Amino acid sequence: MASSPTTTDGPAGRPAPARLRAGARRAAVPPFQVMRILDRVERLRAAGRDVISLCAGEPSGGAPDDVHRLAAEAHGARAELGYTGALGGRELRAAIAGHYRRWYELDVAPEQVAVTTGSSGAFVLAFLAAFDAGDRVALARPGYPAYRNILASLGCEVVEIDCGPGDRFQPTVARLRQAVADGGPLAGLVVASPANPTGTMVSRAELDALAGWCAAEGVRLVSDEIYHGITYPDDPAAPGARGVCAWEADRGAIVVSSFSKYWGMTGWRLGWALMPDALAPAFDALAGNVALCPPAPAQVAALGAFTDAAYAQSDQRVAGFARTRALLLGQLDRLGWGTVAPADGAFYLYADLGERLGPFADATAWCEALLEEAGVALVPGGDFDGAHGDRCVRLSFAAGADAVAAAVERIVAFQQARC
Ligand SMILES: Cc1ncc(COP(=O)(O)O)c(C=O)c1O
Repeated sequence: MASSPTTTDGPAGRPAPARLRAGARRAAVPPFQVMRILDRVERLRAAGRDVISLCAGEPSGGAPDDVHRLAAEAHGARAELGYTGALGGRELRAAIAGHYRRWYELDVAPEQVAVTTGSSGAFVLAFLAAFDAGDRVALARPGYPAYRNILASLGCEVVEIDCGPGDRFQPTVARLRQAVADGGPLAGLVVASPANPTGTMVSRAELDALAGWCAAEGVRLVSDEIYHGITYPDDPAAPGARGVCAWEADRGAIVVSSFSKYWGMTGWRLGWALMPDALAPAFDALAGNVALCPPAPAQVAALGAFTDAAYAQSDQRVAGFARTRALLLGQLDRLGWGTVAPADGAFYLYADLGERLGPFADATAWCEALLEEAGVALVPGGDFDGAHGDRCVRLSFAAGADAVAAAVERIVAFQQARC
């Protein structure tokens, strides 16, 4: 955020001279609400309160054992761990390419993989490589706020596509056509499947339709596949059960993914992009200038994410999410909320509070009261949907079955008393 005019940024801690601007206009992006809530959770816990936090999008349990083993070996051997190539070390790029063969039966060349600092780093590179200031880029509302905020700070025009329960909270070709008719051509479309906050997925047919329309209209598709592998299909062996990769539909898309969620490696700060050939030189040049290279220790360790044992461990964690999800869905009647997104994947339940909003002005006030009075932290929907999110909450069930079961009891009691 822009620094306030009352800072002591001037010489020797004195107020900054009047001619020093408080901050660039482009920097005025809203902070993540979830960080503010996490801060409050910490303060309450420090004061001795028992708080159940279902707000962070973070799987518990950490990285697979093979990742830890390789990290320990590298550190034990005092490996040099200097700069790698700007787009990551060759071995890791090849291992990521192998992942596409394993999960999607796709041939990806190591040179088509850009290793980045989390998928967040991949988004910045993708947006810089693909879009100019002033370009119109569409995305779903509700959606992950960072896309909107990064694009806006890069000077792009963010075109929010209102995606309600009727569209399973995902963009459709009809709505994209309408956006073009209303405001002019689009340069890009960001799709996330499974999505945050709704967990909804696009089917192979839907992704084919979106990718086909993008290709025909000259719209660059950016596909966020960070929650692939965390899905709850009826038939786990069915094609596309882990999520459909946009490169199955069109290699002109930029695919973005990460070690953060399926492998539980949020703090290792490692993700990647699959780059369309035409954009690879731009990615390379930008990556070298922005960050020199992704973190070398994490790259060495991340090779351990692609062993059979690591996939098995991660799948076990997903099985745990599935049990928690089933428990939560079994409690929906008691919670009495309105529209609830289908939660096909990821570990979020996004719901309109409906009648249960009770006397509260909006979901922000409801969440504040729930946290202070009942000790349960959820995220209000405003960050994800500036138009309708003020009646919605996101619950992350990554914290596990015990935490979710206890939270449901507290929420039901809170609602009985207050709503
Ligand atoms: C939909 C989505 N995309 C991207 C990210 C960024 O994750 P990371 O930078 O850790 O890969 C997140 C984080 O929660 C997310 O929910």
